[in-house]
Amino acid sequence: MTTMIGFDDVRLGFGGVEVLDGVGFGVGEGEFVSVLGPSGCGKSTLLNIAAGFLRPDSGEATVAGEPVTGPDHRRGVVFQQYAIFPWLTVEKNIGFGLTLRANRRSREERRAQVARYVELMGLQGFEKSLPKTLSGGMRQRVALARAYATEPQVLLMDEPFAALDAQTREYLQELLVETTQTERRTTMLITHSVEEAIFLSHRVVVLGNRPTRVREVVDVPVPFPRTPESRLQPEFLAVRRHLEDLMRSESTTSARS
Ligand SMILES: Nc1ncnc2c1ncn2[C@@H]1O[C@H](COP(=O)(O)OP(=O)(O)OP(=O)(O)O)[C@@H](O)[C@H]1O
Ligand SMILES: [Mg+2]
Repeated sequence: MTTMIGFDDVRLGFGGVEVLDGVGFGVGEGEFVSVLGPSGCGKSTLLNIAAGFLRPDSGEATVAGEPVTGPDHRRGVVFQQYAIFPWLTVEKNIGFGLTLRANRRSREERRAQVARYVELMGLQGFEKSLPKTLSGGMRQRVALARAYATEPQVLLMDEPFAALDAQTREYLQELLVETTQTERRTTMLITHSVEEAIFLSHRVVVLGNRPTRVREVVDVPVPFPRTPESRLQPEFLAVRRHLEDLMRSESTTSARS
């Protein structure tokens, strides 16, 4: 499998505090990989390196085999908050990337692409709405639609559902898992939630306490298509137990040190 997102011995510290201590793993083409790890271990730092917002002290991140040297419109990024423009309507937000030089499309193509993602994200009827009139869950659906609409080489998501209530969060996980089954974009998702990581992913990368490195990469043998019932399958529950044990042992070590 071609590696679309690669981290090779990535190290980074901030003002003498070591954060990433030689992180290495890869995300294959069309693969969905979640990154789990204790709070403050360096997950967002890692994603920001892949996005080109931060440079490592040493080591390298690559996307599609090319070293990442700065931000690039061929990478779609979704954050927990503030990912959409408050002054643009839903459809203008979703089509925004398609007006930029790197991803420019004709007006017709743009319209078709926006309509496609409005539908996939269940935003019909809200095309002309401004973000402030939408719920948090709908805003994140706009952010996802906007990221998918440019058909990026890779998608990078940093806790996109963390600010939502439990029910909305589950609904968006289901929407996203359906989307990944039709769109098959290479995706790296950062999350705190073991359940979310398993439900969405082919594999889960577990990071240790800061200074962090990869503790374990866990395959998720839960068959696709994933549905709400997948969460109750024995394979799902077994991976969940394993990951919860890993996360628990990690927070204990940090409490002791
Ligand atoms: N720009 C920065 N300057 C200085 N320190 C930083 C900077 N960005 C992150 N850090 C520090 O690096 C460490 C890792 O931060 P990061 O945001 O990557 O963690 P995280 O795993 O995403 O945490 P959380 O789970 O809480 O989102 C933290 O100790 C943080 O204080
Ligand atoms: Mg973070």
